[in-house]
Amino acid sequence: MTAPTRVSVPTRTSADLIRAEEPVVAHNYHPLPVVVARAEGTWVEDVEGRRYLDMLAGYSALNFGHRHPALIEAAHRQLDQLTLTSRAFHNDRLAEFAERLAELTGLDMVLPMNTGAEAVESAVKVARKWAYDVKGVPDGQATIVVAAENFHGRTTTIVSFSTDETARSGFGPFTPGFRIVPYDDLAALEAAVDETTAAVLIEPVQGEAGVVIPAPGYLAGVRELTRREGCLFIADEIQSGLGRTGRTFAVEHEDVVPDMLLLGKALGGGIVPVSAVVARREVLGVLHPGEHGSTFGGNPLAAAVGTAVIDLLRTGEFQRRAAALGVVLRDGLAELVGDGVVGFRARGLWAGVDIDPTIGTGREISERLMREGILVKDTHGSTIRLAPPLTVTEEELRSALAALKRVLAA
Ligand SMILES: Cc1ncc(COP(=O)(O)O)c(C=O)c1O
Repeated sequence: MTAPTRVSVPTRTSADLIRAEEPVVAHNYHPLPVVVARAEGTWVEDVEGRRYLDMLAGYSALNFGHRHPALIEAAHRQLDQLTLTSRAFHNDRLAEFAERLAELTGLDMVLPMNTGAEAVESAVKVARKWAYDVKGVPDGQATIVVAAENFHGRTTTIVSFSTDETARSGFGPFTPGFRIVPYDDLAALEAAVDETTAAVLIEPVQGEAGVVIPAPGYLAGVRELTRREGCLFIADEIQSGLGRTGRTFAVEHEDVVPDMLLLGKALGGGIVPVSAVVARREVLGVLHPGEHGSTFGGNPLAAAVGTAVIDLLRTGEFQRRAAALGVVLRDGLAELVGDGVVGFRARGLWAGVDIDPTIGTGREISERLMREGILVKDTHGSTIRLAPPLTVTEEELRSALAALKRVLAA
């Protein structure tokens, strides 16, 4: 018997696919005009076979690169065994995932969820419950202090405490109970905290705001203040965590252990959505059966991939790479200051780069870089962010910096 002949089906071009999305996909994003069809490691390939260096890494969801062999293998193995039970039953993968994650974070208990926003929502609920059950805040009066320019997700409660009008406008009424203070301002934080405060919720580095890094001492100050005032410190490490900044968690740069750590993005290895609230036992212990949940939270496929992610992090290799290559990134960007770059902030393999606005908006620079085979994403105005997979090589990183230099000089 002869092997069946492969009939080549006429495929749609990138332009066809972009046009086809327009009437049927909600316009809540404005993607760069590239249609990715395949990817491996730090490289993606479009429908026509053009290759691009991925310098965004799925907003840090792809810290280990596209289709890391160990993660793909873990997913395949689990797909052949069991994918979902719901939490109505136990599954044989959840305990190991939670044990490893508790060990990695130095905390006690894990609340497994799926997306980052869900982890944040869950943390808000847990903090409020802790305030009522443990701290003794009168029912309905708990407050949570957050930072201006934050990004914690897109649900109605989360946008209630956003300061980004585009994210909020048209979506009210909003959830009360949040106080907003300037980021990186301990005095303002101290003034906002009182006996009703359940928690202070901040990003150790504000990613979406343009990779804004607080002054040395801020994170340690938040830790000290929250401990002294008897409220919880919730660190949203959904983007900053899991190796990105050169440490496993960005709070480690100041030797801080928060009461609650929120993880997502890279925890799913770029394969499945996996997020988690990790906390001390007396904090997560406030939840009882029926009070919170999610059908997919802690599913065996997510737990298997999440466990494999933790195994990769336990080697320390990715943190070391991010720290070492972070120096290359920082030095490369420093050379561009005055030549099209007006400023930048970098920690590990993560940088927010402010482009001279007379050269172009962040979007325009991103489009020009795309034509040079480099994929990045703008944040606000003329700022672009660079966050390659932590598997990026020095040569690849230098080629991205060279492309940026060419684009800025053009
Ligand atoms: C710090 C932070 N928290 C929460 C989220 C929300 O995550 P998700 O998009 O998975 O809901 C993000 C996403 O960018 C984030 O950067």
